[in-house]
Amino acid sequence: MSVVLVTGVAGFIGSHLAAALLARGEEVIGLDNLNSYYDPKLKQARLDHLIGRPAGFSFHRLDLADNDAVARLFQSRPDITHIAHLGAQAGVRWSLEAPFAYTAANVTGHLSVLEAARHHAPALRHMVYASTSSVYGSRMEGPFRETDPINRPASLYAATKIADEAMSSAYADLYGIPLTGLRFFTVYGPWGRPDMAYWLFTDAILKGRPVRLFNEGQMRRDFTYVDDIVAGVMAALDHPATGHRLYNIGHSQPERLLDFLDILEELLGRKAIRELVANQPGDVPNTFADTTAMRRDFGWQPSTGLRQGLGHFVTWWRGHFG
Ligand SMILES: NC(=O)c1ccc[n+]([C@@H]2O[C@H](COP(=O)([O-])OP(=O)(O)OC[C@H]3O[C@@H](n4cnc5c(N)ncnc54)[C@H](O)[C@@H]3O)[C@@H](O)[C@H]2O)c1
Repeated sequence: MSVVLVTGVAGFIGSHLAAALLARGEEVIGLDNLNSYYDPKLKQARLDHLIGRPAGFSFHRLDLADNDAVARLFQSRPDITHIAHLGAQAGVRWSLEAPFAYTAANVTGHLSVLEAARHHAPALRHMVYASTSSVYGSRMEGPFRETDPINRPASLYAATKIADEAMSSAYADLYGIPLTGLRFFTVYGPWGRPDMAYWLFTDAILKGRPVRLFNEGQMRRDFTYVDDIVAGVMAALDHPATGHRLYNIGHSQPERLLDFLDILEELLGRKAIRELVANQPGDVPNTFADTTAMRRDFGWQPSTGLRQGLGHFVTWWRGHFG
């Protein structure tokens, strides 16, 4: 059996990953600081779901940027075999408002985990961490390949994730830590993130408020259902790297925001009040994953289309908010 440390366990993707690992019989050690970037009650509700399960889950509330606290957690659990490092300050737009939250969680926090893996993880077999499609910057053409240059990040968020990839590559080479970085493409699904378009649009439509479509709705996003992301993380965890590797995980079918909104309206049975507005600084116009490497190395492929996945989200929303 594996002992998996999941950072960001109270987050959207971390909580889904922890549930899937527990369901296949792994032990999960969860870490999160439950910060208030969005409503901590949602984070607590996700955690309650995990704590309510049979044995195998423990939770540690601590800040990734506190490297001593992270080291102590590792020292108390020398049996950790895998790390799924998903804890981070996410969100492109907030990185314009609160840049130091990003360097603390994403740069210092990432280094805390790498250092703990280096010094205090004798049983470690593999560390997998979350990167992002934002590393590809403002490009119209696609699909994006892992070998493409990533030297023009469009936001500080993207810049901190590029730093994570660079630090990971150095730690894999210097200390022989098996490391895999996964670049996630616009993840959505039940228990999702309140700062993301699918959530904001649903909330606005149901409350009769205008939906703001940045870049006049012409942006394209490669929406990827959370279960497909979790399957990809687990496939990567199960195949330890030699050195450092990077993979895209995306659905490879970019959708215009306007078309995405059409589907959401149909599922909700209500029309949106559409407000077309200019682009926001930091937002990229297009995301489009080439996932050849994920398919080749892990036999992974996405299985949930946008209409089906959004349907699951709307069903969850109705159950959760009534
Ligand atoms: N959701 C997406 O579309 C998407 C896309 C690309 C990359 N990612 C990456 O995937 C990972 C998970 O994202 P998510 O969508 O679940 O976001 P999320 O915000 O729901 O989850 C992140 C969790 O990390 C925790 N956290 C933040 N800073 C911390 C700190 N300093 N110490 C301890 N915990 C801290 C937060 O409390 C939160 O629960 C992140 O690394 C994110 O950058 C997400």
